[in-house]
Amino acid sequence: MMRSTLFFVLMMFVTMIVAAPIRSSSDEDSTEGLTKRGSKSTFSGTGTWFLPATEGGSTGACGPKEGNNSPIVALNSPQYGNMSKKSSWCGKKIRITGPKGSVVATVNDACPECKHGDLDLTPVLFKKVIGDMDIGVGKISWHLA
Ligand SMILES: *[C@@H]1O[C@H](CO)[C@@H](O)[C@H](O)[C@H]1NC(C)=O
Repeated sequence: MMRSTLFFVLMMFVTMIVAAPIRSSSDEDSTEGLTKRGSKSTFSGTGTWFLPATEGGSTGACGPKEGNNSPIVALNSPQYGNMSKKSSWCGKKIRITGPKGSVVATVNDACPECKHGDLDLTPVLFKKVIGDMDIGVGKISWHLA
């Protein structure tokens, strides 16, 4: 009697371990907003501009080289995830809409000081989406293209 109860408890325990989903915490960070919330999510925040070739070097956090006229953006760090790694956002095409217009750009970098929803744009994109580089900031919304 005692032995079979112990066996039953042991089997329950094994089943629980096997049934538990195996996920690393870094997966959760880097996919935040990308898969968990679904690909149709729209984000909004502040758009700013940066010069990749002179600020932080010309190699984006994602790897590929980028210049001041590249159609790329730096994604805010909360959504990018671990900045010393390639995010699952890397290489994703997004459509960004602002007061001036709408463009499609590729995520190639991370913006450490940006808040959730924010994007740092290259000048070529900033001019098309927000406009005045002297003002330098504007409201944007974006989603996967
Ligand atoms: C980020 O990634 C690096 C390289 O894999 C790792 O050493 C570091 O611990 C990670 N940091 C966090 C906060 O997960």
